Amino acid sequence: MQKKDTLSIYQQKRILDAASCLFAPKEVLSRHIIKHIDTYSLKKAYLSTVKKHHPSKHPSDSLNKRQERVEFLKKAVKAYESLGLYLKNKLPEHQPLKKNTIIAVGGAKGGIGKSLFAANMAVYLCQQGFRVISIDLDLGGANLSLYLGEKFVLDRTINDFLHKRFATLEEIISPCKHGPLMIGGDSSELGMANIAHAQKLKLIRNIRNLDTDFVILDLGGDTSYNMLDFFLMADCGYVMTTKDSASYIGAYQFLKTALYRKLRRLTGPEAGEDKIRSGSLAHLLQEGLSAKNTGIKCISDLCTHIHQVNPLYTPQVLRPIIHFNPYLIVNKVTKIHQASQSAQAIGALSEKALSIPLPLAGHLSRNDAIEDNLRNFEPLVATEPNGKMAREIQKILQKSAIISRAQ
Ligand SMILES: Nc1ncnc2c1ncn2[C@@H]1O[C@H](COP(=O)(O)OP(=O)(O)O)[C@@H](O)[C@H]1O
Ligand SMILES: [Mg+2]
Repeated sequence: MQKKDTLSIYQQKRILDAASCLFAPKEVLSRHIIKHIDTYSLKKAYLSTVKKHHPSKHPSDSLNKRQERVEFLKKAVKAYESLGLYLKNKLPEHQPLKKNTIIAVGGAKGGIGKSLFAANMAVYLCQQGFRVISIDLDLGGANLSLYLGEKFVLDRTINDFLHKRFATLEEIISPCKHGPLMIGGDSSELGMANIAHAQKLKLIRNIRNLDTDFVILDLGGDTSYNMLDFFLMADCGYVMTTKDSASYIGAYQFLKTALYRKLRRLTGPEAGEDKIRSGSLAHLLQEGLSAKNTGIKCISDLCTHIHQVNPLYTPQVLRPIIHFNPYLIVNKVTKIHQASQSAQAIGALSEKALSIPLPLAGHLSRNDAIEDNLRNFEPLVATEPNGKMAREIQKILQKSAIISRAQ
């Protein structure tokens, strides 16, 4: 069997997705299944699922329910095949490479280094030969342009797109002298932090269609729906923190609100094909996520509860959780153990309460030269392409499989 530590995130997601059709939520969300599944347990789970849900066992089902059951059984067959491939070491290692990989940098606090990291990562990826577009989505406190070594007041900003002064994002892109292209912001325009839902959806659609290798989203330090939705649209999300407790509690809160938002969206129009159409399930989900519900202590409890009420919906509810794979970055580190200590503190909480592992992608050391560089408006990675920050960013990108280790 493929060894657990060598499995890519893509393989883990495929295994967990498949397992969610055949095993109990607790086994899937704890990720134990990855290690412990064998041919015998797979066969047993498959046969018991088929036996339990075969339409012949439910003659009083309505036509709709019968159809749901048939669809579920089709998924179970695919899951059985997929897990069989895993047990035979034949699961593909990587998702086919996609253009326009979106990377978001978030964290529920200002001043922790999100913009600085976003800018330097953009410059680093350009130095490696990639096409990069950085977007300032800190709508209430835009300043990414400064970190990229450009002017603070820009000729064109994202406001021009949101206010329909330009029809496409391509028209408001400006080049930066250190490589990346940029869509800057302007928070001096009143009300820009509160864009309407339809504007946000249009922006998200257009970002997804940009012709580039990477889009880097620099987010604001809050947990507004806009920030969460921008974070959730990314293929790779970095949650930033510093070692101080206010910052890592903020990081955990950011993670929690993002996951809750993701689950709540299952009942709304953003869910697309994944949308939950059953009124009673939507109600169960909303109720389970509500702060008033004291019976459900964690996400795993919620999924078990839904599984008990209607197991056909288990894969649909588990999917957004399995597919939420953020990474942690600890910034302003002065001693190396600070990064792993902060990571352990948030990681343990996140795994217990949210069933989300939060691997540490890496850290950035505190660097007093940064303030000087900012005064000169130069990203550190541009002035020192082989310096410490460049190496730390390289490690982060490798750990989170954005670039390969050969790079
Ligand atoms: N690794 C670091 N070492 C020293 N100063 C840093 C580091 N990272 C960020 N800073 C400084 O912290 C301040 C806040 O950074 P910024 O990127 O604007 O945070 P955010 O975008 O999270 O609000 C800036 O003055 C920046 O220069
Ligand atoms: Mg910022």
